[in-house]
Amino acid sequence: MRVIRTVATVRRACARFRDAGESIALVPTMGALHAGHLALVRLAKRRCDRVVVSIFVNPAQFAPNEDFGSYPRAWDADLAALSALAVDLIWAPGVRDMYPEGFATRIEPAGPAKVGLEDAFRPHFFGGVTTVVAKLLLQVAPDIALFGEKDYQQLKVVTAMAKDLDIPVKIVGLPTVREKDGLAMSSRNAYLSASERAAAPTLHRVLKDCASHIKTGRPLPDALAVSRAQIERAGFVLDYLEARHADTLAPVMSRKDGPVRLLVAARLGRTRLIDNIGV
Ligand code: PAF
Repeated sequence: MRVIRTVATVRRACARFRDAGESIALVPTMGALHAGHLALVRLAKRRCDRVVVSIFVNPAQFAPNEDFGSYPRAWDADLAALSALAVDLIWAPGVRDMYPEGFATRIEPAGPAKVGLEDAFRPHFFGGVTTVVAKLLLQVAPDIALFGEKDYQQLKVVTAMAKDLDIPVKIVGLPTVREKDGLAMSSRNAYLSASERAAAPTLHRVLKDCASHIKTGRPLPDALAVSRAQIERAGFVLDYLEARHADTLAPVMSRKDGPVRLLVAARLGRTRLIDNIGV
């Protein structure tokens, strides 16, 4: 397993794979890898001859008041986990390799990036994500790139960006990997105190109950109102709990409006958790 630090080297290494007729999968990450990331890597290995995992904590997707400085970094553990899975390349640029002096271009996504979910609370986020993901796709030129459904809106935004910019890659989403108690795996779960960790699975439990009430015919606005109150009663500060069209993320008023996805973001102490499920 090679660790690569410069754009020129990653391009050369990936070109050699392609020249040998080998397909390439890219798993973009910010490190602090958990079982969700490793599931993406396993799927990548099944789908392609070569697997590249990028590890880059992308400053462009954090606002100044967010956790860029304290975002979990676990280089040695990440390396060990990826080496156990026999990943081919780890692409780990420094900030100056990704954004050299004079860097002045930023993608401004719309469509699913402007639907009043994550974008309403983190307005800088999807511009930073799409800019770095476009760069990663152009640097590695993979056949497929894999993302977890835990960041459901991100998956939709990245898919639209690759299509709109004619980047020849297939974006593949993988269902959320959960702890035994239902909590969606996230690098930020490391921030939770013991009591917050005990409360955190409520989010998934409420989502599941809400989905089953909607399936059994409860009007969507009622089901959402009950679930919002339950989340707040469990000690969360709720950013949103919304029912959206699973493909477009447009608001839906009833199940008849299309496949429904429930999406939630809520804060427990200093930790912001997001989750989603299909109805
Ligand atoms: O989901 C993430 O970890 C990040 O947003 C991504 C896609 C690696 C871009 O920095």
